[in-house]
Amino acid sequence: MVVEKIILRNYRNYDYLSLEFSPKLNIIVGANGAGKTNIVESIQYLSLARSFRTQESTDLIKKGCQFATIEARVVENTSKKDIVAILTANTKKISCNNNQIKKISDLSKLVNVIVFEPKDALMFKQSPLVRRNFLDINLSKKSPLYLDALITYERLLKERNKLLKDDEPNKIQIDVVTSQLVKVSKTIDEHRVKYVNDLNQILTKVTSQLSGENDNVRIIYEPFIELNDDYEEQCTRAYERAYESDVKHKVTSVGVHREDYSMILNDKDISSYGSQGENRLAVIALKLSPYFLIEEREKRPIIVLDDVMSELDDTHKERLISFLRKFEQVFITSTSINVKNASIYEVNKNQKVTRRNS
Ligand SMILES: Nc1ncnc2c1ncn2[C@@H]1O[C@H](COP(=O)(O)OP(=O)(O)OP(=O)(O)O)[C@@H](O)[C@H]1O
Ligand SMILES: [Mg+2]
Repeated sequence: MVVEKIILRNYRNYDYLSLEFSPKLNIIVGANGAGKTNIVESIQYLSLARSFRTQESTDLIKKGCQFATIEARVVENTSKKDIVAILTANTKKISCNNNQIKKISDLSKLVNVIVFEPKDALMFKQSPLVRRNFLDINLSKKSPLYLDALITYERLLKERNKLLKDDEPNKIQIDVVTSQLVKVSKTIDEHRVKYVNDLNQILTKVTSQLSGENDNVRIIYEPFIELNDDYEEQCTRAYERAYESDVKHKVTSVGVHREDYSMILNDKDISSYGSQGENRLAVIALKLSPYFLIEEREKRPIIVLDDVMSELDDTHKERLISFLRKFEQVFITSTSINVKNASIYEVNKNQKVTRRNS
């Protein structure tokens, strides 16, 4: 899919900004603080109704204003979608071709954006939540069944945790919720393991293309219960074993919500080995890989690389750029960059953006 144009009103530092984009490579350049990330953030916002930089809608609204809007035209095959997001401090309303969108899962079918930002390079040094989010977001976009299972799991987990907080927890009630959790856990783990398998099929190829070396990369995902015919029984036992401690700590300590995975680059765990540059390339490869797992070309995501280039040496920069030419629409932000055959947007401090072709 491709964002043809975008209009921002009262968004971050912009009073009003209207831009038309290339269906291929778009480079957004400008000084620190000029408003480059704000532009790509507004595009990404439309895929999740949530910014990758903040949880707070108010951060997105220009200081002193009551509301912000993002209008975008997204094109997929011959279908054109006019998407409008209106944000106030407490509400967000999103519509597509004048029809109100009620569920985020409906929005994610309309716009799909993959973002890589500098802190992602540390993905394997951060908390497991960051790594689970990566899988959850990409799997949810690929499989509505997974998204349903995840939403159900989160609802049941909340319910179980609430019951555990009672002064005298009711074990019978908790067991009922637990048995429902067990069922939905299996669906989640099956999807996660299969997806990681699929990612592993392409990860080595993508990383090697970016590094120019013969790298071997894989993700190791270990579900908290082994996936076999005994899954439900073993899962029930795991909750049972943790029960006393869960009551004591008033929280569910085992389950798919605590799972994690590691990434192995040339037989070494990247969280403890590997240079920063190697980590960065391996994680860029990981974040780009879901693109290749979406069968329908037209549904493949828009790629955003925020501020990644300055960290790479010239050879790796060139490799990354030539690899990105295989993708459909790509946005790159940078303080300085020299790329041929791209649309360049120069962002000045006074909210002016000028476009030229290189
Ligand atoms: N809600 C807001 N209202 C007004 N200004 C804002 C708001 N949120 C952010 N800004 C401003 O927007 C400016 C541009 O931010 P942005 O992150 O897009 O810069 P950038 O060009 O990506 O810079 P860098 O190269 O440092 O990453 C910043 O100066 C920031 O203070
Ligand atoms: Mg930035």
